[in-house]
Amino acid sequence: MKVLILSFSANKVNEDSFVPNKIGLTFSCVNLCKEELEKNGNEVEHICINKKDIKKCMACGSRGWGKCLKEHRCVMNDDFNDIYNEMSKFDVYVFVTPVYFWEMSESAKTFFDRLKRCDAFNDKSQIRGKKIVSIACAGGSGSGTGETLKSFDILNHFLKTEMIGRISVTKSNFEEQKSLIKKAMKMEE
Ligand SMILES: Cc1cc2nc3c(=O)[nH]c(=O)nc-3n(C[C@H](O)[C@H](O)[C@H](O)COP(=O)(O)O)c2cc1C
Repeated sequence: MKVLILSFSANKVNEDSFVPNKIGLTFSCVNLCKEELEKNGNEVEHICINKKDIKKCMACGSRGWGKCLKEHRCVMNDDFNDIYNEMSKFDVYVFVTPVYFWEMSESAKTFFDRLKRCDAFNDKSQIRGKKIVSIACAGGSGSGTGETLKSFDILNHFLKTEMIGRISVTKSNFEEQKSLIKKAMKMEE
């Protein structure tokens, strides 16, 4: 299968990583997913959304809808449309976000805001019916992982995708949660 991993943290797994997390939990999870998926014979691509130019939705047209409603594309000229079109080539999406303030990260919210608008009412959607795995990466407390995964449930509802894995990881339980991630990367329902 072709699997697209989208991640939403700027922190890398190296010594230069900045506060608050030197380990880079999101990247650690991405690396584990990629390793497992490839081991299981899948073709994997990873895009770190933080490295892309994706602006916030302008709610540009009348009554809050722009061309996204009827034309299923965004009028803004940044990296969003290319990634949206690229998504059609994959069978499965793995979304990996840090938990900030009990929510998915800002780059995740910005990306999914625009994705929902373009795709939720697209009868020719190339995303609908595809499988998704959501991973929420939190700090020590793990507060807000449930809420973050709930947001992915809402996304799953609007995109009409099929959620096959919801995993919360914290800095302290990463080692134990590795087995759950590995299981999810087998892509069984
Ligand atoms: C602005 C901000 C808000 C955060 N909010 C939460 C939170 O609500 N719950 C939690 O458990 N951790 C929270 N954290 C900690 C991060 O989720 C944690 O450090 C995570 O590993 C960050 O991902 P990263 O390793 O990819 O940077 C927050 C961190 C930042 C920077």
